[in-house]
Amino acid sequence: MIRVVATTPYEGQKPGTSGLRKKVPVFEQPNYVENFVQSIFDSLEGFAGKTLILGGDGRFYNREAIQKVLKIAAAAGFGRVAVGKGGILSTPATSCVIRKRKAFGGIILSASHNLGGPNGDFGIKYNIGAGGPAPEPITDAIFARTKTITEYRIVDAPDVDIDTLGETALGDMVVEVFDPVADYAELMQQLVDFEAIRALFAGGFTMRFDAMHAVTGPYAHAILEGMLGAAPGTVVNGTPLPDFAGHHPDPNLVYARDLYDLLMSDAAPDLGAASDGDGDRNLIIGRGQFVTPSDSLAMIAANAHLAPGYKAGLKGIARSMPTSGAADRVAEKLGIKSYETPTGWKFFGNLLDADLATVCGEESAGTGSNHVREKDGLWAVLMWLNILAVRGESVADIVRGHWATYGRNYYTRHDYEEVDAAAADGLMNALRARLDELPGQVLGGLTVEKADDFAYHDPVDGSVTTKQGVRVFFTDGSRIVYRLSGTGTAGATLRVYIERFEPDPAKHDFETQAALGDLITLSRSLPDIEGRTGRGAPDVIT
Ligand code: G1P
Ligand code: ZN
Repeated sequence: MIRVVATTPYEGQKPGTSGLRKKVPVFEQPNYVENFVQSIFDSLEGFAGKTLILGGDGRFYNREAIQKVLKIAAAAGFGRVAVGKGGILSTPATSCVIRKRKAFGGIILSASHNLGGPNGDFGIKYNIGAGGPAPEPITDAIFARTKTITEYRIVDAPDVDIDTLGETALGDMVVEVFDPVADYAELMQQLVDFEAIRALFAGGFTMRFDAMHAVTGPYAHAILEGMLGAAPGTVVNGTPLPDFAGHHPDPNLVYARDLYDLLMSDAAPDLGAASDGDGDRNLIIGRGQFVTPSDSLAMIAANAHLAPGYKAGLKGIARSMPTSGAADRVAEKLGIKSYETPTGWKFFGNLLDADLATVCGEESAGTGSNHVREKDGLWAVLMWLNILAVRGESVADIVRGHWATYGRNYYTRHDYEEVDAAAADGLMNALRARLDELPGQVLGGLTVEKADDFAYHDPVDGSVTTKQGVRVFFTDGSRIVYRLSGTGTAGATLRVYIERFEPDPAKHDFETQAALGDLITLSRSLPDIEGRTGRGAPDVIT
């Protein structure tokens, strides 16, 4: 029985590339989820009888939202919804399953690394059949529909059991509850040398993987401890909790501080790693050796041929513009192309689809490859394990050897959070107004070589994306980048990315902030950050 329910639009249901993200109480309003999910389906064509993949990161409201999506999908005419057992499905695993089953698309319930719980964040995202986030024409259509929706259609039925594997009928649709780990684990086995990693662990290699009480727990338990023989207890915080135990499931040096401190201590295991709420970000720390995400991308790329899935070599390497140039040096040495894209994973999609790039990454802890169309936290960890197993060296040895070969890109990001939005816009516009006059100027002892506002020309579809961040290059190869965050919720977040290339191995031992000291000072004075925003120093340094 399909019930047609009259409804009125909510304001502001505008999905970004990471979907619609709001506080849980917003989603709990009557018809709020229903309106949005119906708007998604109203914006799609040709899914009658087809399969939709559904799951989430297990955060608060996951289960309630799953039931609503199932009943609306049944009323809309999908033939089958395959839902991860318990409503669990990491973002990269969703992408994997959509592609493997050639599904019509998928819905991911997540707010990534944001806080969970009754007052935390929730999110709904639609992914297309290629496995990646819906492109802008689709999200625009969904948004337009949310403004005009007058009714939704829902199957009147009791809640579906999503904790038992198997199939049940919901109206004319089949609900299939499947193991959220199996397909993903199988894909990893094709890409990464499980034999070599098993031997590594059997030989006494030690590791701690912090799942941060979020979605990667079941994956890490099954793959690291189950299939690869890592010691029981290797995975910590491995049970997804609706409120992530009150912690931020964001694997950085602020929220994964315990892991960092452990790896810098005498009790350090060989490798420390973590992933975020929905499993797409990663953190890699060796004993006594932190690996920046920019370096990790470069090192994975340089060693990818050691993993079975990449033994034929890479087609190209893509990085987001603010990510350090370390990966470019690897591409140059390998004789392959490097691509520089705007911030955000969606820009990698065309390059991967066209087989121009094989691996890609962002400085914000996202690394991935053409195996799915999302960044993939556990994949990055498995690639590192594969590299460590084959090379038989420590993380620190590999990092230092890489720097000796390619040079070191000292790199840091300084974030000024909750800045007055008008002040932040003013700062960016003032910088843009100076682009022509900056070249040739000597600032803080450095000569500006060129300055621009990054624009991306997509080599596949020819589209142009402008105003992606102001870049100031210096004649010694250093660079400062200014851009405003597109994901913040309060005020504006000014991100300043500071980078200096050091070819001399005798100078690879400095602490990062010290090594970048002069540039950091200049990064503040150049646009007069303090004068314009009242901030003398950043809130977060990564
Ligand atoms: C941030 C990161 C960016 C990432 C995005 C989504 O965006 O900087 O690399 O793709 O989150 O995870 P920003 O807030 O800088 O716009
Ligand atoms: Zn995430």
